[in-house]
Amino acid sequence: MVKKVLIISASPRTGGNSDLLCDQFKKGTEEAGNTVEKVQLQKQKIGGCLACYGCRGTGVCVQKDDMEELLDKMVEADVLVLATPVYFYSMDGQLKTMIDRTLPRYTQIKDKELYFIATAAAGRRAMERTMDAMQGFADCLPGARVMGRIYGEGVYQKGEVEATAAFEQAYEAGRSL
Ligand SMILES: Cc1cc2nc3c(=O)[nH]c(=O)nc-3n(C[C@H](O)[C@H](O)[C@H](O)COP(=O)(O)O)c2cc1C
Repeated sequence: MVKKVLIISASPRTGGNSDLLCDQFKKGTEEAGNTVEKVQLQKQKIGGCLACYGCRGTGVCVQKDDMEELLDKMVEADVLVLATPVYFYSMDGQLKTMIDRTLPRYTQIKDKELYFIATAAAGRRAMERTMDAMQGFADCLPGARVMGRIYGEGVYQKGEVEATAAFEQAYEAGRSL
C-alpha cells in the first residue's frame, strides 16, 4: 500500500542537521514508492495558540494563517515525521507552536504512524526530554503508533550529521515504510 507521508521539519536552519535527516527519510520513503511531502515550519506563518477556545464546536481556529492547510495535511497523512533540533533540552519553539495549534482538530489526527527525529550537540541522554516532549503529543492522538526515534547526537554545525549513524538510519526508516 502506498502511504502518504508528511515530514514536518522544525529547524530554522534549512539544510541543518535535522532538516538533512528529514531529506534522508524523504529519499528513502520515495524510493519505497510512497507519497511524501516535507514542510519546513520556518517557511510557514503559524501564530501561537491564543487559548480563546474559539475552535470549540467549530473545529476551526480564529487565526487565519498557514496552520489550517497544515492541519488538513496532518489529518490526511498516514505517516507523520516530526523533526526538531534540541533547544535547551526540549523541542524548538517552532515545533511546540505548531503542536499547540493542532488543538482544533487533534482528535482527527488518528491512527497515524509516527517517527521522531532530533539533533543535538550533546549525546543521546541529553535528548530524551525532547523525545519525551514529542511523545507527549503522540499520546494525545487517538491510535498513534510511534514507529521510530532517530537521534542525531553530537552534532553542532550544519551538516555534521552526515558523518553519523543517524544519517543512514533516517534513510532506512523512510525506506522501511
Ligand atoms: C537556541 C539553541 C539552544 C540549544 N540548546 C541545546 C541543548 O540544550 N542541548 C544541545 O545538545 N544542543 C543545543 N543546541 C545545539 C543544537 O541542538 C545543535 O546545533 C543541532 O544540531 C541543531 O540542529 P539543526 O541543525 O537541525 O537546527 C542549541 C542550539 C540553539 C540555537
